[in-house]
Amino acid sequence: MALVCIIYARSSNYGKEVIEVQHFEFVFFFRIRYGLKGVAKVATIPIETEKVRYIMEVFDAVRTVLAVRQFQDKPVPEPIVQQIVEAGHLTASSRNGQPWHFIVVDDKEMLRQLGTLAQTGRYIAQAPLAIVAGMEHSPFAVSDVSRAIQSMILTAWAQGIGSNWVGFDNLKHINPVLGIPEEIEILSILPFGYPVEAIGKGQKKRKPLSEIAHRERWNQPFV
Ligand SMILES: Cc1cc2nc3c(=O)[nH]c(=O)nc-3n(C[C@H](O)[C@H](O)[C@H](O)COP(=O)(O)O)c2cc1C
Repeated sequence: MALVCIIYARSSNYGKEVIEVQHFEFVFFFRIRYGLKGVAKVATIPIETEKVRYIMEVFDAVRTVLAVRQFQDKPVPEPIVQQIVEAGHLTASSRNGQPWHFIVVDDKEMLRQLGTLAQTGRYIAQAPLAIVAGMEHSPFAVSDVSRAIQSMILTAWAQGIGSNWVGFDNLKHINPVLGIPEEIEILSILPFGYPVEAIGKGQKKRKPLSEIAHRERWNQPFV
């Protein structure tokens, strides 16, 4: 008689917060000389792993984050402001160039002015906080600063704070208002605040996955 012990791991979701758990199952397989086989499950041990839980939280934030354009009249707590800025600060950049500058604004009059100047983001005027993302001149600056912006938006969202990218049009006007040197280009203004409406149930208007994802070669279906 041969006795084999197999340990394998599988993962599953449970609970409201979708915590990922790995199960280690101890299974014995019996094989007797003339073909008789048997399987006996001895134990299932669920083990939460930090790494797996972290992956789920990131994906959940990506899945549910939406552009927020209406904010409650409630300040963003300072520890969260610090965390948002730190998320931008810690972002990776090409050749570690870090060509970004973040100007954190919570002065109501300044927010009102920013709303007036940003043609595609008038609603900045109603936000309790905005971060102006500027970039030093570099061929990689748009990619680098865009990544930092996404880090900040997702970090905020994970804390229940909504945001959005306001950008591209006429942001040069904002340099003198905030004393930003001419050579720094403003890529975006990000208003932050608690959303007025409970949004973000993963309902997004996106092209079908089959239209944009390919497997191995262009136009070979991914799904
Ligand atoms: C690079 C970029 C620029 C954007 N510019 C603006 C903008 O100037 N004003 C605005 O209200 N929304 C802006 N948005 C938000 C998009 O319109 C929004 O993310 C998109 O319509 C998808 O909606 P959702 O994020 O709610 O799924 C911008 C988003 C990105 C990524």
